[in-house]
Amino acid sequence: TRELRVPATGLVVLVGVSGSGKSHFARRHFRPTQVVSSDFCRAAVSDDENDQAATGDAFELLHHIVRTRLRRGLLTVVDATNVQPRSREALLAVARHQDALACAIVLDVPEHVAVERNAARPDRDLPSHVVPRQRRELRRGLKALHREFKRVHVLTGVDEIDAAVLVPER
Ligand code: CTP
Ligand code: MG
Repeated sequence: TRELRVPATGLVVLVGVSGSGKSHFARRHFRPTQVVSSDFCRAAVSDDENDQAATGDAFELLHHIVRTRLRRGLLTVVDATNVQPRSREALLAVARHQDALACAIVLDVPEHVAVERNAARPDRDLPSHVVPRQRRELRRGLKALHREFKRVHVLTGVDEIDAAVLVPER
């Protein structure tokens, strides 16, 4: 097992390409109400989890929920790809403003794992360039990520991800 310390009342930002297992990981380690996902927010403002035109409104809602929960002192997990520095910066700004600790958990699976999983999903129909592009963005930003967050856990490979045990820290 691998113990990951996470802030008991702060922000946990999941980072990983589509198909890396973020939603699966969130379901396994957190209560449903603790998890705010971009899918949920996109569906909430468009009735369609895959409506890309709703992205702006979806993230506005996501940030609003995160801000409100952190202000109320609730552990909040963001389930979105977060591979772009810009997307993480917005979340970090919210955490900073609420004086909340922020940690990142990177789920790094081999490209073929993510691609094969996505191919088997009825809810995802991604163009083939998406996962490779997200992996490049993640690779490029990995160094910066360690500067952005007080604590960063990088889980490499399916076994390491499966072996993770979360330890809430006050
Ligand atoms: N999955 C799996 N075994 C795991 C993790 C995930 O079989 N250990 C499967 C899930 O059941 C799902 C698919 O792989 O069908 C993708 O996992 P998911 O957690 O949904 O990936 P996300 O990272 O959330 O992808 P997205 O960014 O597209 O939401
Ligand atoms: Mg997901």
